[in-house]
Amino acid sequence: MNPPGTTDAYTGHAAAVDEDALKELIAGELGAVRDRSFGLTTDVLAGDDLTGQVSPLMSPLVWDLAHVGNYEELWLLRAAAGAEAMRPEIDGLYDAFEHPRAERPSLPLLSPEEARSYIGTVRSKVLDSLSSVRFDTADPLTSGGFVYGMVVQHEHMHDETMLATHQLRKGAPALLDPAAEPLQKTSSKGRDTDEVLIEAGPFQMGTSDDPWAYDNERPAHLVDLPAYYIDVEPVTNAAYIAFMEAGGYDDPRWWDPAGWEWRNGSGKRAPAFWVRESGQWLRRRFGRTEPVPPGEPVQHVCWYEADAYARWAGKRLPTEAEWEKAARWDPAAGRSRRYPWGETYEEGRANLGQRTLRPSGTGAYASGASAYGVRRLLGDVWEWTSSDFHGYPGFRSFPYKEYSEVFFGPEYKVLRGGSWATHPLAMRGSFRNWDYPIRRQIFSGFRCARSLAGEAR
Ligand code: AVJ
Ligand code: FE
Repeated sequence: MNPPGTTDAYTGHAAAVDEDALKELIAGELGAVRDRSFGLTTDVLAGDDLTGQVSPLMSPLVWDLAHVGNYEELWLLRAAAGAEAMRPEIDGLYDAFEHPRAERPSLPLLSPEEARSYIGTVRSKVLDSLSSVRFDTADPLTSGGFVYGMVVQHEHMHDETMLATHQLRKGAPALLDPAAEPLQKTSSKGRDTDEVLIEAGPFQMGTSDDPWAYDNERPAHLVDLPAYYIDVEPVTNAAYIAFMEAGGYDDPRWWDPAGWEWRNGSGKRAPAFWVRESGQWLRRRFGRTEPVPPGEPVQHVCWYEADAYARWAGKRLPTEAEWEKAARWDPAAGRSRRYPWGETYEEGRANLGQRTLRPSGTGAYASGASAYGVRRLLGDVWEWTSSDFHGYPGFRSFPYKEYSEVFFGPEYKVLRGGSWATHPLAMRGSFRNWDYPIRRQIFSGFRCARSLAGEAR
C-alpha cells in the first residue's frame, strides 16, 4: 500500500528503493486491482448488466473494463516498454474524450468475453516486460515506477466509478457487503457539531516528492491561512435531516443562486437514493432498502446541497487549503504528513478500500485523526470543498494534459479525502478529485468550517 520512498518523502529525499522489490510490489498491486475489477463486472454480472447503461452519467461496465486495459496498453506497453499498438482500431472507442459517457453504449464495444481476453493479453505482456523496463531516475515517466502507479490508481478509480454504476443500477443486488455490521464502534449521539480551531499560519500544501502523486498535487508550496474552525467529523444524516425538516430546501437564503436554480429545476428535496416511506427516510443501497442510519455521514449530496446546509448551519464549506491543512499539517514538526496520522498507510485507520459498502459512523476510526484531532478525513465520503479546481503555482502538466489540466477552471469543484470505495493506493492527504457541483452519484458528503467571529467569510 505504501509506494516507494514515502517514509521520508517530506524531507525531499525519497528513501533508496530496490528496483526489484518495487517491481514485485507493482506486480502484486496490478493483480489485486484486476481481481477487484472482475469482482465488480464479469464475476458478478453478465449480458445486459455489463453492456447496458444504467444512467447517461455512467459508462456501460464493459466499457470501463476494456478502457482500463486500453489505458494500461497505452502507458505500460507503448509508452514504458516501447511496444507497438495491439489493436489500434479500438483506441478511439476507449478514449474518454472522443465519446461522452452517454454515447458509449451505442459504440461497437468489445463484448465482455472479448474485453476480458484483450485486457488479459495486455496484462500478461505487461508482466513479461516489467523485468526489462528500467526505472530511470532521469525519466519522470518510469522514475519510482510512476507510470505503473498511475495505471494501478487509474484502474482503482474506475472501480470506484463502477461502484457508482452499481449503486444506480436497478434489480437484484449483485454485491455482497463484505462486512454485515459496521467494522468499528460508532457513537449514537451525533457529535458532528464538534469543531477544532486551526491557528493562523502557513502550511505546506501539495507535494513535490511523493513518487506516485499526480501532476495536480504538485508542486509543494506554502499557503498562509487565517485561523478557522473545522468540524471534527463529516456532517451526519441526522444533522442533514434536521436541515431538511427545518425547511432548508425551501429557503432561498441558504442557497447559492445557481444552487437555487438546480433545486428548482431538479425537483430534488433529499439526497440521492433516499425514499420517504410511512414517515421514515429509507435509502436504496446496492439493491437493498434500509432506514437511513442517523450516525453515518450524509452521502450522495451535490455541492449545492452541501453549500446550502453549511449556510443554514451558520458555517461554510472549507476551502481546499483549509481541508488539507487540517488533514496534513503537523504544527509541532512544522511539516505536512502524507496521511492524517503519519507517513505510512496503516489498515484500520481509515474506511478506505471497499472494506464495507458504506461509510462508517461518527466516532469510528479515531486512530486516523490528524495532528489537530480532525477525524475521518480519509475514507468514508468524499468531502466537497468550496474551491474550484485549479493548478497550484508552478503546475506542470504530466504526463498528459487530459488527466488534470483540461478540467481546470470554475466549472469543477474540488473534493478531498476519498470515500469507503476509494482504494488506499489512490488516496493520500494531497490527493485531489473534482466534479460538477450538481453531481450526486459519487460517494460525496462534506464537513463544515467557519471563520473566526468578526472575520470575513
Ligand atoms: C479524478 C476521478 C475525476 O474519473 O474522471 C479516470 C479519474 N481519469 N480516467 C475521472 C480518471 C481518467 C477522474 N477523476
Ligand atoms: Fe479513465
